[in-house]
Amino acid sequence: MDISERPRRSALYLPASNAKAIAKARTLPCDMVVLDLEDAVAPEMKAQARAAAVAAVAEGGFGHREVAIRANGVDTEWGLADLAAIAGSQADAVVVPKVDSADDIARYQVALADAPAAMRLWAMIETCAAIPNLNAIAAMAASTRLSLWIMGTNDLAKDMRAQLTPERTPFLPFLSLAVAAARAHGLAILDGVCNEFRDLAVFEAEARQGLLFGFDGKSLIHPAQIEPCNAVFSPGEADLAWARAVIAAFASPENQGKGAIRVDGRMAELLHLEQARRLVAVAERIAAVA
Ligand code: COA
Ligand code: MG
Repeated sequence: MDISERPRRSALYLPASNAKAIAKARTLPCDMVVLDLEDAVAPEMKAQARAAAVAAVAEGGFGHREVAIRANGVDTEWGLADLAAIAGSQADAVVVPKVDSADDIARYQVALADAPAAMRLWAMIETCAAIPNLNAIAAMAASTRLSLWIMGTNDLAKDMRAQLTPERTPFLPFLSLAVAAARAHGLAILDGVCNEFRDLAVFEAEARQGLLFGFDGKSLIHPAQIEPCNAVFSPGEADLAWARAVIAAFASPENQGKGAIRVDGRMAELLHLEQARRLVAVAERIAAVA
């Protein structure tokens, strides 16, 4: 399966310094694994985590899961060494934190000049400075490895001095602006993490909010969050039944040449046909990795 067609419902972070978590990730039903060198790793463990992440990718065993490594920022004391090590690995992507501007993406693109051609650049959107620059950052997808954004809601809350409650009220405008900018430039986009890993009701409500806002999936911090996340971001039976009905209706002889038709008492236009085809394709991709 082409990487761009893989399901991206669930992206599990883990500290690359935690060997047990890496071993466990190879067995978990997440679509993506992000081996973290940044926030989840203490300064004295940075070098060890970097070596462990690269070794884990070389060892493999992640199956259908996309595997990314999150580097420390290019301006930190670890950033350039992280990027050089990741560029020399077979990771599917490098995740870069705290991207403020299109210039930041350009700098990462240069730092990854020697990386394998297939390696993607995934950017964290998690600073106040990024908000007015969303369109310019997303537009870099046309000329760089950039292909996906991950919202960093914990860092955004810190930077804004806003409170990250289950409703996420202060962040809702930015979540929708980010989704719109990402879609305008063909990027995939994942929602931020939910810190409440023991309260799966809170988690599920937040995941549903992310689905409502148009995210492809959500970033996760704990194995217990994977199955509820996959369930939320998998097309539901009712939606699939509607999609199949729309596809069938547009294919029927009496509807040839029509742009708007009636399906089960609702209006369906050609744009709904496109949505329906996409939903069925997403469900097929999920079935292919199940
Ligand atoms: N990935 C893989 N395995 C994980 C995991 C993760 N993110 N989080 C926990 N586990 C494993 C534990 O190693 C443990 O394994 P075991 O049963 O074989 O011993 C099991 O799942 C249960 O863990 P639990 O005791 O419930 O959690 P904890 O108290 O050990 O850890 C956290 C809690 C939050 C510290 C841990 O989940 C974590 O490090 N999460 C990721 C943090 C991160 O990467 N942050 C950066 C992005 S925001
Ligand atoms: Mg962070």
